Amino acid sequence: MRKNVVAGNWKMNKTLQEGVALATELKEALAGVEVKCGVVVAPPLTHVASVVEAVKGSVIGVSAQNCAEKEKGAYTGEVSAEMIQSTGAGFVILGHSERREYYGETSEIIKNKIQLVLANGLTPIVCFGEVLAQREAEKHFDVVKSQVQEAMFDFSAADFGKMILAYEPVWAIGTGKTASADQAQEIHAFVRGIVAEKYGKQVADDCTILYGGSCNPANAKELFSNPDVDGGLIGGASLKAADFMAIIQAF
Ligand code: PGA
Repeated sequence: MRKNVVAGNWKMNKTLQEGVALATELKEALAGVEVKCGVVVAPPLTHVASVVEAVKGSVIGVSAQNCAEKEKGAYTGEVSAEMIQSTGAGFVILGHSERREYYGETSEIIKNKIQLVLANGLTPIVCFGEVLAQREAEKHFDVVKSQVQEAMFDFSAADFGKMILAYEPVWAIGTGKTASADQAQEIHAFVRGIVAEKYGKQVADDCTILYGGSCNPANAKELFSNPDVDGGLIGGASLKAADFMAIIQAF
């Protein structure tokens, strides 16, 4: 069954204390409210275990923003999928455009990370999306197709079914320039189509595809009302409990 999800990507923001306070505020705001979607927060890695503790007993799931490409060993500064799993977190964001752009993450690396995340029973939230020049050159469908195929199509249907997809047009991330509801729907339907070609209609129908890129309380409802947009990956607007709550309540 396809699930609606709203996930907050805190990126490199908030101290540990501020992060725990935000998670606690969110937990309190969600208590007693009817929530019609999955809710996930992705704090910095240093905060993950404490945030897991802070949100216990609530509907909030916790995600890391990245993990190592290796299983374990002499990789100074890296944190493995197994370590993330041991904190009680349930998700890992992979292939975010900031990781692709600033840290040289290739589709091959993202694929290896997905493998490790799945092997540890975690849910990967896999991001993809075109940059502005690619959209202007009308190459966005090709770009999205190869990113999805290269990182996600070497898995069994059962493993693919465990992934959450996130379309994030790079030109919309942190820019205040949101994709229009039609632009989002167009790409999401296209992605669902290539998933159907590869894994069949049922897997495609069940697949959760989030939109990310300047999603906020004012535009969330319109974006989420599209048949193929199953929620959002929220950056800036996830840093304030009230804004994030308003986006959750757009469902
Ligand atoms: P934004 O970020 O909502 O601040 O645009 C989204 C993301 O990068 O996941």
